[in-house]
Amino acid sequence: MKALILVGGYGTRLRPLTLSKPKPMVEFANKAMVVRQIEELKKSGVSIIILAVNYRSNVMEKFLKDYEKLLDVKIIVSEENESLGTAGPLALARDILQSDDEPFFVLNSDVVCNFPFDKLLQFHKSHGKEGTILVTKVPNPSAYGVIVSKSNGEIIQFVEKPSVYVSNRINAGIYIFETSILKRIELKPTSIEKEVFPFMAHDKELYCMDLDGFWMDIGQPKDYLTGLALYLDHLQKTASKELSEGPNIIDPVLIDPSAIIGQDCIIGPHVAIGANVLIENGVRISRSCILDGSTIKSYAWIHSSIIGWKSSVGKWCRVNNISVLGEDVTINDEFYINGAKILPHKTISEDIHEPKIIM
Ligand code: GDD
Ligand code: MG
Repeated sequence: MKALILVGGYGTRLRPLTLSKPKPMVEFANKAMVVRQIEELKKSGVSIIILAVNYRSNVMEKFLKDYEKLLDVKIIVSEENESLGTAGPLALARDILQSDDEPFFVLNSDVVCNFPFDKLLQFHKSHGKEGTILVTKVPNPSAYGVIVSKSNGEIIQFVEKPSVYVSNRINAGIYIFETSILKRIELKPTSIEKEVFPFMAHDKELYCMDLDGFWMDIGQPKDYLTGLALYLDHLQKTASKELSEGPNIIDPVLIDPSAIIGQDCIIGPHVAIGANVLIENGVRISRSCILDGSTIKSYAWIHSSIIGWKSSVGKWCRVNNISVLGEDVTINDEFYINGAKILPHKTISEDIHEPKIIM
């Protein structure tokens, strides 16, 4: 089987992290988002992955060459000269997608869940129509594609980012399609949510399957951290061996084996610590992510924040309220950082009392 992953877009909502890496390459729970998706697809029998890219494809291509061998899948980079939106990339990859008559998966690159691809395929085959989308419920649906369906799953209405309340069931950004969908899509910038799904629904060719379990679009810091907590809870529920244990850990926590943790720290819950991170003595971290190569100095306190690659948080610092440090940021000792987004390579030598962007 084949899958196409939509890895374009500029990831602006995940800045400053996406100033250093394309969004799909940003680690989530110690693994690049797109790598986790590819691994899950592979488990369900997908052997050809098309990455629909409109930005920095050489960076992504190099990065994924290694994974091609490691994961034993074929990865094809399909590069857009102009951004083709969420449907245009399917037209660009038309020849590969219709090389046989098998249905194929399509994924937004910034969603996490338990990826029930087998169930989705099974349900899709059971109704025999052109497409099936995975749906989930969210408390605030206005930022998503909203759906209304019959009890058998047939979608009767699909509205992208509605301004008035329609329903709380939303498009989870994971689809399976028959190759016949390609007849609906031209090679030009096209939104699958606005220009394809409503017409498929009208033709009674679009079905939905409810997702069982957690879901999150992790394309912005607040949701990234919520998604991290949900994902780690999921690992805990499934008794995953990946999780770390220890006297100073409040479950669930994920620590890369190469990270060094000092004495008298308290780590957790809902923390991911990446490769080659150094955590000095007495540090307290909760609901946060420390990306590869960073150092957290003694007695720092970090809550609800993302510390970018190779950054350094000084002694006795307090970092909280969805602060995001870009790559190679230094916070000198004893400062307070409240909700700041700090661009790469900055050095901070003052308190930041209110959420703002430090350029
Ligand atoms: N190749 C390519 N080219 N990919 C693109 C382009 C493009 O021009 N534009 C966006 N993408 C990719 C993004 O990288 C992302 O993986 C996916 O398409 C969706 O774009 P987002 O920018 O993340 O959209 P959204 O989060 O506002 O809304 C989408 O996702 C929601 C679920 O998270 C929609 O599909 C909603 O209907 C859905 O509910
Ligand atoms: Mg998104």
